[in-house]
Amino acid sequence: MPSLHAEPQSRLSLPQSAGPQAMLPPSCALSALSALSPALARVFDDSARSVAAQVEACLADADALLALLPEAARAGSPDGYTRHLVYADPMARFSAMLLVWRPGQASPVHGHRTWCAYRVLQGTLYERHYRWDEAARVARPSGGVMREPGTVFSAPAGLGHIHSLGHPAGGMDQRDGGASDIAISLHLYGVEAAQIATGVNLLVAAG
Ligand SMILES: [Fe+2]
Repeated sequence: MPSLHAEPQSRLSLPQSAGPQAMLPPSCALSALSALSPALARVFDDSARSVAAQVEACLADADALLALLPEAARAGSPDGYTRHLVYADPMARFSAMLLVWRPGQASPVHGHRTWCAYRVLQGTLYERHYRWDEAARVARPSGGVMREPGTVFSAPAGLGHIHSLGHPAGGMDQRDGGASDIAISLHLYGVEAAQIATGVNLLVAAG
């Protein structure tokens, strides 16, 4: 796998007040860039959905994916859901993890710093949804849905899609459907492996 590094001479620079790049007054340029945001949000939404479609088309064999984990790892942990890196794209464009959930275990409430897509391989998960309350700076519950084995879903970067994912049995939600076994899901994220711990979830307060 090639080792990728930032160019040594790379550095963050701020806009100059004069020169060829200052053809527009800064306020106009910033306004134009800001106006891109809604259009880019649609592009990011479409990208996340496209990734999910490829996961659905190319990764249909749940047993083969589950076999990437040793049997002991598939039992999960009593200390919380576990995450196992199972693939790092050689060009550092994405990473894949298997997440193992025991009954009652759930992720924190979070948006995303990058696109993500996931597939439920075993068991049933519950995805609780939230909407971002910008004035209060908290995520408000807005419903949820059971995710059955085989189903694939995606989320773009940002706070337009905030959720918590977890094993429904054990108190996460009353509609647990009696689920009590280990649940396992495959997750793809648009980050290199070195960023998997800090570059994916955007944790937010919920209220
Ligand atoms: Fe997520």
